[in-house]
Amino acid sequence: MNENHGMYVRASAPAKLTLFGEHFVVYGSPAILASINKRISVTLKPNRMNTVSIKYGRMRMDVPIINGRVHKMGTSSRSFLHPILSCLFDMQSELGSLSGLDVLIESQVPHGEGLGSSAASCVAAAGAFYSLFFKKDRKKIFEAAAQAERTIHKHSSGADCYASTFGGILHYKPTSGHRRISIKKKILFVICTTGIKHRTQNLVLRVKRMKENNPTEFRGLAKRANNICSDARRALVFGNYEALGTLLTENHELLKKLNVSHPKLEEFIDICTNSGALGCKLTGAGGGGSIIALIPNRDSRNIISDIGKKIPQSMLAELDFDGIQIAQGLNSIKKF
Ligand code: PMV
Repeated sequence: MNENHGMYVRASAPAKLTLFGEHFVVYGSPAILASINKRISVTLKPNRMNTVSIKYGRMRMDVPIINGRVHKMGTSSRSFLHPILSCLFDMQSELGSLSGLDVLIESQVPHGEGLGSSAASCVAAAGAFYSLFFKKDRKKIFEAAAQAERTIHKHSSGADCYASTFGGILHYKPTSGHRRISIKKKILFVICTTGIKHRTQNLVLRVKRMKENNPTEFRGLAKRANNICSDARRALVFGNYEALGTLLTENHELLKKLNVSHPKLEEFIDICTNSGALGCKLTGAGGGGSIIALIPNRDSRNIISDIGKKIPQSMLAELDFDGIQIAQGLNSIKKF
């Protein structure tokens, strides 16, 4: 029995921007991601009610515990609760016998907008479950979160969970893990959300079909995406943001060829480009969701304000360098 009655754990994990390489990363190419200061948090408190009681805003769901085990997810397996239940379900053999849990979810991340909300909730949930029952271990949290994310979209590259767990700007390769990219110069991105929700798994399937129907074309695009990622890493390290902007726009052209853009995304890209952005692209799965625009440090205020007037649902992205954060008992959030 591994329970800790009377205490609580709160884990929070950041959303992310995919700067380069989405979709291609599913097939082993590298990607560059940046965590941002919009978080999802999961608070756990053991109870003795033989129920896992999950609350998110005004929504509430009770999952029975029978003989110390959580019962397989029912009808809401496709809802926002899926990551939380998946994590708990996957981890329960390690957790031992349960007698009940109160779970509170709080989110600052718009869902289905390409900002990695599913991954952030998987990471926050895995972090909270691990820390309540075991010691904190980022690698284990990442692995549990990535496994839970695969129950939502089975071809997940794991990149989003990586960014959300470790924070900062990361060069991620599915086979060899991540390398942190240190930047010396301030970098400014504006995020413009379309409000058109996407389902990542549908777009990943669309790309899979394109790859199967046109393997030679896909190979050529993936090769180009690979090179863009290497050039982008150098441009970030050396602070060459003019070059970085050009690479963002080139990466977007590749995504258009994968048929994952959307007229609204194209409209936003034109607006941001005309307002003076150095480069723009869709971020995440596409088909709606969001774009990112790289803003030059010089004249940034005017450019950001011009974009804001034309696209009210735009915001400045603040980078996050902490990744998952955990608080226990009555302590304030602390890093580990
Ligand atoms: O739209 P999001 O935040 O779910 O990002 C999806 C990124 C993909 O590369 C399309 C999928 C993946 O697993 O990396």
